[in-house]
Amino acid sequence: MKNINVFDTTLRDGEQTPGVNLNFEEKLQIAKQLERLGVDIIEAGFPAASKGDLRSVKEIADTVKNSSVTGLSRALTSDIDACWEALKGGAEPRIHVFLATSPIHREHKLHMTQEQVIETAVNAVRYAKERFAKVQFSAEDACRTELPFLAEVVEAVIDAGADVVNLPDTVGFIMPEEIRSMFRYIKNEVPNADKAVLSAHCHDDLGMATANSLAAVEGGAEQVECTINAVGERAGNASLEEIAVALHIRNDFYGKSTNITLNEIKRTSSLVSSLMGMQVPNNKAVVGDNAFAHESGIHQDGVLKETSTYEIITPELVGVEANRMVLGKLSGRHAFKEKIISLGYNATEEEIKKVFKSFKELADKKKEITNEDIFALMADEKAGDAMKYYSLETLQVTYGTSNIPTATVTLLDQAGERIEQAGTGSGSVEALYNTLEKIVGEGFTLHDYRIQSTTGGRDALAEVFVRMAFDDTESSGRGTDNDVLEASAKAYINAVNRVLNQRRAENQPKVANISTP
Ligand code: KIV
Ligand code: ZN
Repeated sequence: MKNINVFDTTLRDGEQTPGVNLNFEEKLQIAKQLERLGVDIIEAGFPAASKGDLRSVKEIADTVKNSSVTGLSRALTSDIDACWEALKGGAEPRIHVFLATSPIHREHKLHMTQEQVIETAVNAVRYAKERFAKVQFSAEDACRTELPFLAEVVEAVIDAGADVVNLPDTVGFIMPEEIRSMFRYIKNEVPNADKAVLSAHCHDDLGMATANSLAAVEGGAEQVECTINAVGERAGNASLEEIAVALHIRNDFYGKSTNITLNEIKRTSSLVSSLMGMQVPNNKAVVGDNAFAHESGIHQDGVLKETSTYEIITPELVGVEANRMVLGKLSGRHAFKEKIISLGYNATEEEIKKVFKSFKELADKKKEITNEDIFALMADEKAGDAMKYYSLETLQVTYGTSNIPTATVTLLDQAGERIEQAGTGSGSVEALYNTLEKIVGEGFTLHDYRIQSTTGGRDALAEVFVRMAFDDTESSGRGTDNDVLEASAKAYINAVNRVLNQRRAENQPKVANISTP
């Protein structure tokens, strides 16, 4: 059976999801889980974009051993050098160089002729090949490129040393029948096509990303590029879990396998959802909460008689059953630690000690602690980053239908000093945020405020996710608590800590005008 390579771009294209802003620790955590999931290639970031990106790609390349780690690069020597800096320590240094090929991009973005595009692409691949063991070239917007020209580009970059050639549907425009034909055309018409792996990278603007990726496989693609939970630019990328499970379940049709450990899928999905603050829709295929729920009486009756009547994927296949194991207030430190390890965390004893304390506090208020709760607790622990500039000491909010909502808050600063303030607002959260703003002394714009419960039940944890801008710095923050207002305060403080950490760590100009694809 032919194997399809799975190239995960959750940490690069997925991180381009509007409002998503992962810190270094979070990226590393996701990379380790992707390794456990069995992805062949992890695209860890865009090293030329910022010092922070370079550092996290480097750390991931130095840490991950069972997946090949790659970084994105424009067809520029400076970008390729930045990638080399980040990836040279990895087990199999691999670079992903891209250049647009479509007439729209050539004319309006690159201002290049066809000849200049080929020359630039070839030079970049040659330069990269002098350093990297594996070079991937992507013809950005391939699916809107004239086929004969696309074939010329593919032939030229393979001659220059490209090991993988990716033909992305950058804007999510193509239809399954067309992408299948496009891959067949390239396979048949490009004389050296057998010297490289062809890859598909589909976006979901018309809801076709999974179907198109699978059609590309039918057309001859041997690698698919995708993200967990289909996160990504605009409407997102092709969903890793959907493609991997479809290839497995419909093996009779495709006759292809992947190296994905399917029962790690749910765990990976929950981790990415929690760290990115992106809730998985209940009806999302494979990983949504309703993916295995049968509501109608006829369906329930059928499933009770024989599951295959209405269930083509079992929950166990994707690790949903394992996810239901719960801890409670009698669970000890050992069981807790085992759970953390089984969830893929590589936490230090110090971190386990701290999270265990939060776990015990939570277990006093909540009967069953699920994996989702633990993801939230761990995310809180990891989210503060290296330095906690502010932490919440006390909080009191007064609300009444005929009163002005008022908040009184005490924070501890880095030096352990107490800072107390009070403020009002038109609602409880506004009163709270006005007060926090007074303490932090920095004006902010709240772009997004979202609240969700980690599980069902009245005692469920509230998880608040905020996206805010402080001057020119965008930040997200997350906070979890039994109480929605306390979770809201924690999310705000987390966003502030992240901005301050970012400013400290980078202490560098924001990379201007970098246009990511
Ligand atoms: O969508 C796209 O074209 C990309 C390329 C860099 C592969 O993300
Ligand atoms: Zn993309």
